[in-house]
Amino acid sequence: MEVTVGIVGLGNVGSGALQILTENASGIQEKLGFPLRVKAVCSRNVQQKKLPASLQGVAKTNDWREVVSDPEIDIVAELIGGTATAGQVIEEALKQRKSVVTANKELMALRGAELWSKASKNGVNLAMEASVAGGIPIHTILREGIAGDRVVELYGILNGTSNFILTEIEKSNAKFESVLAEAQQLGYAEADPSADVDGLDARSKLAILAALAFGEKLTPADIYTEGIRRILPIDFEYAHQLKHTIRLVCLARQSENGLLLSVRPTLVPQTAILSQVQGAYNAIWIRGKYGEDTFYYGRGAGPKPTGVAVVSDLMRVAREIRYGSPERVSPFAHERLGEYKPVNVNTQELPFFLRFRVEDKAGIIATLATILAKHKIGIDAVLQLPREDWRDLPFVITTEPAKEQSLREALVEIREADFLVEPPFAMPLERGF
Ligand code: HSE
Repeated sequence: MEVTVGIVGLGNVGSGALQILTENASGIQEKLGFPLRVKAVCSRNVQQKKLPASLQGVAKTNDWREVVSDPEIDIVAELIGGTATAGQVIEEALKQRKSVVTANKELMALRGAELWSKASKNGVNLAMEASVAGGIPIHTILREGIAGDRVVELYGILNGTSNFILTEIEKSNAKFESVLAEAQQLGYAEADPSADVDGLDARSKLAILAALAFGEKLTPADIYTEGIRRILPIDFEYAHQLKHTIRLVCLARQSENGLLLSVRPTLVPQTAILSQVQGAYNAIWIRGKYGEDTFYYGRGAGPKPTGVAVVSDLMRVAREIRYGSPERVSPFAHERLGEYKPVNVNTQELPFFLRFRVEDKAGIIATLATILAKHKIGIDAVLQLPREDWRDLPFVITTEPAKEQSLREALVEIREADFLVEPPFAMPLERGF
């Protein structure tokens, strides 16, 4: 007996999933022992879409309601993205007692727990492997592979576009704006790049992973988030002098006080495995109380890697339907999600990399040292390359471990200085690596 699928959304991910479902149909059937058949596809411009020849007989519609109300469809794949229509598609499908597979990180970060409860109440599944880190099966790892461990820390590079931009700046010494334009030409970054470069896409993914790993109901807006727009090529030069590099790190750390979450550009030692993640790749490093370190690496986006994640979820859910156990495992690894106990980043104590751009004159270091000392922040090193332009001189101060709250207070004072070309830029030197 076959299991049938309706696909809503034929953009990059939908087309990739459809290609795999058709090209690899016999391989999928061999693994499942029964066929997984696409019964309908839906897209706003479905008539213009070129579908694989083997799908000529499949129902095509531009009305998603036809797919979710079709009694012959067992699983709905929501692959349109965004939160409005996608939310309706998923709610309606769950109401019709159809399992849902989704790649929608934004919606799952915002409403995943609530939608999962609805799915569970209706005895169907909501699978979301493709919502985080494309081709890396990180949901399955957290839900099943290392479910027996207790996750203590998780570090991720979860936005391929930002990682591409950072590693290009590092390689070619080019400015953020020109590398962003290149990323847009290559199709990595959207015309409006803010979700990627301002850390919002990574924040949604971190929220989903942290809910899975730590079992808390998270609000993405509560996660401390900074993007990569302020990174300059010179930051890499100074980071290299310190034997570090810079990555947009998504961090989750459990302590007895609660859960600390952040997305921010961070100095990563060149010896740490995360520093080797180049280009549009993603990686997740998990530290468990018992199993210690595990590391996962792969393509975080793209029609085919994300398509594999969608198809693998479809296969898992199809097996559950076929063998009568639709609620085999919660997508969140925990039976119920508990309340979020956030720990504010300001309470952590870390060394910082402070980059200044100044109009040079005598006494700048003395002024900065005085303000830092007033806030009980010790200086570790002062790094300055030979000066090229005295009107815009970049240099770096690294600090001894300091409370982030004290650092912020010092930076507020420093901002008032008349020699600054732009406000100081601070990045933590993360100690967990
Ligand atoms: N825009 C994302 C990235 C991929 O650059 O990683 C989709 O989540």
